[in-house]
Amino acid sequence: MRSISDIVQQLQRRFFDTIVSGNLVYNTCWEDPRIDRALLNLDSESDILMLTSAGDNALDYLLDDVNHIQCVDINPTQNALLKLKKAIFKNGNHTLLWNFFGEGQKSGAELIYHQQLRPLLPKQAQQFWDRNIQSFSSGSKNEGFYFSGTSGKVAHAIFNQLQRKELIPAVENLLSANSLEEQAYYFHEIEPQLWNPFSEWLISRHATMTMLGVPASQRKMIKQQYEDGLLEFIRQSLRQVFTKLPIRDNYFWRVYLTGHYTPDCCPNYLLEKNFRTLRNRIHRIETQTSSLLQALQRSTKTYSHFVLLDHQDWMAFTQPEQLAKQWRQLLDHAQSGARILFRSSMPKPNFLPEFVFENVSFHPNTTEPLHEKDRVGTYESTHLATVL
Ligand SMILES: C[S@@+](CC[C@H](N)C(=O)[O-])C[C@H]1O[C@@H](n2cnc3c(N)ncnc32)[C@H](O)[C@@H]1O
Repeated sequence: MRSISDIVQQLQRRFFDTIVSGNLVYNTCWEDPRIDRALLNLDSESDILMLTSAGDNALDYLLDDVNHIQCVDINPTQNALLKLKKAIFKNGNHTLLWNFFGEGQKSGAELIYHQQLRPLLPKQAQQFWDRNIQSFSSGSKNEGFYFSGTSGKVAHAIFNQLQRKELIPAVENLLSANSLEEQAYYFHEIEPQLWNPFSEWLISRHATMTMLGVPASQRKMIKQQYEDGLLEFIRQSLRQVFTKLPIRDNYFWRVYLTGHYTPDCCPNYLLEKNFRTLRNRIHRIETQTSSLLQALQRSTKTYSHFVLLDHQDWMAFTQPEQLAKQWRQLLDHAQSGARILFRSSMPKPNFLPEFVFENVSFHPNTTEPLHEKDRVGTYESTHLATVL
């Protein structure tokens, strides 16, 4: 007979799968492409297979003039987001791109979508945006795109808390601080007020973590590292990001703390100087809705680079057989010397099947110092595997 805890775990897994398969979870990529760039050595011969997430990092890699990027995501709404970005590159201009994805708001967004962007989208993406394009509309009720989607809604709840506590000016000071000393000063002003029964309750909820796209298996990994669990992990991550690294160009945290980017603190794909280059190369990005394993099983191509984000944490405890199958496929589709990049909530990739270590080499001397500089700061480790 199954125990109550098994049943709860199964229900939690089902709830997570339901949320992350039909809702936009990531409205921005939560991995730092500056670190990726230092590890991937991309060039005009690079053929990349990567997970889509919000598509920002695929657009970033395109700046390195790569040959082709195959984006795969099991969640069709994540691909619909990248397709909308692609449509703006094809049939918009930099101002429109900035309004939609820099400010996250544009008056008349629905009209622009129907006239200019919708005709370029495939049916499934049209169906998603027909229902959701109003998240870009500006207006009193609308908080903009970055406070929409499941992660965005959690960010909005936190923003409302900061507003209620009159902490927004201190946050603005923190984000525009000119030195680490200044950052530490403002952060220490804010930090004690962040932790209260409401925020602790919010973080401890399975529903909150699901909305942020953090499955139970990943939380289990975090709890193994931190005596006080998730709360301690979040406390330490915030301290690292806000007091040890320059915050001025940390667009990851800026967007969730304010709801928008600024021209000097945003992903590279939003910079005006990159618009024309990306427009000319945008056809080199393709999207596919599928699990990574199925995409590999169907593919007849080989790749020079694989960017797996942190999705193996989703499989490590619950689907070890699928993870092993996926690695066999990765190795079968890897060009000689291919680079495989991923992040994890575990300090070491010892959740991988044994045979992986016989076929790739890892480079901790290179990845560990870079990981310390990661602007996202919520992963325990970054790994680069090169195929032998
Ligand atoms: C692993 S999540 C994590 C978020 C990520 N760290 C980021 O940069 O935003 C990234 C994406 O992977 C997708 N995903 C998770 N497991 C997958 C799988 N087995 N195959 C394909 N996509 C997957 C999710 O739908 C999500 O859009």
